Amino acid sequence: MMIRTVSTQPFNDQKPGTSGLRKRVPVFQQPHYLENFVQSIFDSIAAPRGAALVLGGDGRYYNREAIQIILKMAAANGFGKVLVGQGGILSTPAASCVIRKHQTFGGIILSASHNPGGPEGDFGIKYNVTNGGPAPEKVTEAIYARSKQIAEYFILDAPDVALDKIGVSKLGDMQVEIIDPVADYAGLMASLFDFGAIRNLLASGFRIKFDAMHAVTGPYAREILEQQLGAPAGSVMNAEPLPDFGKGHPDPNLTYAHELVEILYGDNAPDFGAASDGDGDRNMILGKKFFVTPSDSLAILAANATLAPGYKAGLAGIARSMPTSAAADRVAQALDIPCFETPTGWKFFGNLMDADKVTLCGEESFGTGSNHVREKDGLWAVLFWLNILAARKQPAENIVREHWVKFGRNVYSRHDYEGLPTDAANSLMQHLHDSFSGLRGQQFGQYEIQFCDDFSYTDPVDGSVSTGQGVRIIFTDGSRIVFRLSGTGTEGATLRIYLEAYEPDIAKHHLDAQTALAELIRIAEEISQLRKRTGREKPTVIT
Ligand code: G1P
Ligand code: ZN
Repeated sequence: MMIRTVSTQPFNDQKPGTSGLRKRVPVFQQPHYLENFVQSIFDSIAAPRGAALVLGGDGRYYNREAIQIILKMAAANGFGKVLVGQGGILSTPAASCVIRKHQTFGGIILSASHNPGGPEGDFGIKYNVTNGGPAPEKVTEAIYARSKQIAEYFILDAPDVALDKIGVSKLGDMQVEIIDPVADYAGLMASLFDFGAIRNLLASGFRIKFDAMHAVTGPYAREILEQQLGAPAGSVMNAEPLPDFGKGHPDPNLTYAHELVEILYGDNAPDFGAASDGDGDRNMILGKKFFVTPSDSLAILAANATLAPGYKAGLAGIARSMPTSAAADRVAQALDIPCFETPTGWKFFGNLMDADKVTLCGEESFGTGSNHVREKDGLWAVLFWLNILAARKQPAENIVREHWVKFGRNVYSRHDYEGLPTDAANSLMQHLHDSFSGLRGQQFGQYEIQFCDDFSYTDPVDGSVSTGQGVRIIFTDGSRIVFRLSGTGTEGATLRIYLEAYEPDIAKHHLDAQTALAELIRIAEEISQLRKRTGREKPTVIT
């Protein structure tokens, strides 16, 4: 088998975003496009000869083709071994788990997370480092810099590798090991949670529904929830991973997971519902006719963590992304542990976990996780909730309401405006920046602005600084409005407006979040001149 050196020219758009490089499938299908990016990864990470790599993806359209290309390039670039999930499948948290367990030189994950898939849908690729977490900015910057210089890449001329049969084969001098994509991950889950107690809960008639949204978690949820924990067959819905996710939008929120929402809000609803996204790192938690916000979920997991065997020694600390509500901060304060506020994106949690500063972390965007891997983890959150439900023997809604009574309620919502013209979105953000100095001290109804800024973060471990991470308008009573542009979209711009108000008054805890936040929503529109600048009357998605 021959290594071919292929001449190429740089593409100028290979800058990784919040979570790797994401583009439409046809962009990735252009000659040399994927190859250039993969070679840029290999050139910048400089793995020692013979190093091992993990490779897998969420099964979306182009996953298998990309796996073949990457395998042949890994062989040509001197890797000694690649561990590939059977069928090219590995959920993002499972990939992180495999990297850590087998101590490989990181891994390549193929996913565009919750973005739709299919021939015209999205595809994505990212490199995770040796701790199993997303590459930090200095690595992604180096990859981007390399992609702008690249002149050639290396690929083995070889037949395709059989991806569906577990076992070891050779590709040139490199070993390819096809592994069971679920086994290592399921083993890790069993070591963290009280499977016996969850099994008893499910045997007692407690009914659950998990929506895999035709994405990667289907096989994981079937094995763990139905096989190992005994949930009746059919407890996992949309369990078959499909390359186009059944034409759905595999994002577990109230809008896109409406099938599950209708079941949990319908007659004879199950006791507990959950969903995960395209690559298995997000989660949505529902009780019977009750939605748990991701920000509350993080706080509640933290407050109840010692009920799960894997966390019975307590937590070192908690981290949340800046736009995530401060509910977790209140728990951290009560537990007398530190709470860190990081920019959006999981990559900022890795250093804190590696330095043992935090055990749990989470984002308002349906992401929760812990130091068991270095990615957020959808099924892990579901199992954590089931463990707590099994231990407390109360409905999910009661657990949340009791939490609010104890800590107060951080009323929270996010409004997304998707598919905006990039110019309009940029002008709105610029307008906010230009308004900073005039806004301070201004009164809007009951709210007075204390300060506004563009969030920046200094990593307490390596001192690296990340600026421009979102405009914060903070009011004197601690309420907040945050404006950010998405870094994961592939079409136009998405504006995210995050709204948060603290409500200590138990008498008001029953209020719907949109009602409780109505005044802040109005202020956000006014300050940003949203309607004038975007022409939009209402958000595309409310969570
Ligand atoms: C979004 C979420 C962010 C999450 C990321 C990857 O990024 O807001 O919290 O880490 O997806 O799942 P954004 O599109 O806002 O840049
Ligand atoms: Zn995801």
